[in-house]
Amino acid sequence: MDPVRIGILGMGTVGQGTVRVLARNAEEITRRVGRDLRVVHAAVRNPARLEALNLQARISTDPWAVVRDPEVDVLVEVMGGTGLSRELILAAIAAGKHVVTANKALLAEHGNEIFAAAQQQGVMVAFEAAVAGAIPIIKAIREGLAGNRIQWLAGIINGTSNYILTQMFREGWDFQQALTEAQRLGYAEADPGLDVDGGDAAHKITLMASIAFGIPVDFAHCHVEGIRALERDDVVYAAELGYRIKLLGISRRRADGVELRVHPTLIPESHLLANVEGPFNAILVESDAAGQSLYYGRGAGGDPTASAVVADLVDVARTMTADPSNRVPHLAFQPDALSALPL
Ligand code: HSE
Repeated sequence: MDPVRIGILGMGTVGQGTVRVLARNAEEITRRVGRDLRVVHAAVRNPARLEALNLQARISTDPWAVVRDPEVDVLVEVMGGTGLSRELILAAIAAGKHVVTANKALLAEHGNEIFAAAQQQGVMVAFEAAVAGAIPIIKAIREGLAGNRIQWLAGIINGTSNYILTQMFREGWDFQQALTEAQRLGYAEADPGLDVDGGDAAHKITLMASIAFGIPVDFAHCHVEGIRALERDDVVYAAELGYRIKLLGISRRRADGVELRVHPTLIPESHLLANVEGPFNAILVESDAAGQSLYYGRGAGGDPTASAVVADLVDVARTMTADPSNRVPHLAFQPDALSALPL
């Protein structure tokens, strides 16, 4: 069978991780899908970045060259941003290409438009990598808990903030020192304000809530508070009282709609979430049949995020392979469902 041909926009930490994971696990992936997954075209600002990767693909500096390449079946967007990336993804969808993206900011702001376009074209937009790195939380909510009525979700969903809070508590570092190290380790967003001011977690809880409660993506109605104002003393005093401070994303079903919020939260030190440390993420979900279930893993970094990108590629490739004429769009919401509550 012909390979599934992949085009990648952006060869930063996640793009390079994706190429590495695809190459390292090629044999297993081919066995699972029934055909090869091959990167045929990549867009990168600085091609010198790719020298160590040994990537046998066309390289362009213009992302439009990848989107317009008729040989590309699936577009992986890991370049970030919400302007050009939106145009590129919409153009790819219009050209009948499936899309895999790690771009939570883009989907939180323009997800409804993008999902509607994908539905119309009958292509998939998969975004496991946009939420909680390696944890397959989108698949868990959409597939694993598909028989449940979900009541609420609460999660540590920003690895950078969690790493900072952990280092302040464990090592006595100040906020800036911990942030600088998180950036060096590749956890932080290009704009680290998104991490420490809660925006990144807000993007992620908005996307999870859309899947969990069947609501349109409604980032504007998410209450957002970050950790920038916290000092070491706050962390230390909380510990003396038996609590840990964690930045949580919370979404809850109510009779009149769905709450969306992100803020620092005191958690009793014996609670499972209080013991999630470093760049790790964890999401606790309460649903009627399953009860509480907890999903834990690496929430940031190249290979962990690439794990989710490649899982989506496998998902798309399987769907294409099973019946290419019957592509199942991954819709985020049903039009007649609840909506997010106003602030
Ligand atoms: N900057 C994000 C985080 C990366 O720290 O969690 C993963 O989305």
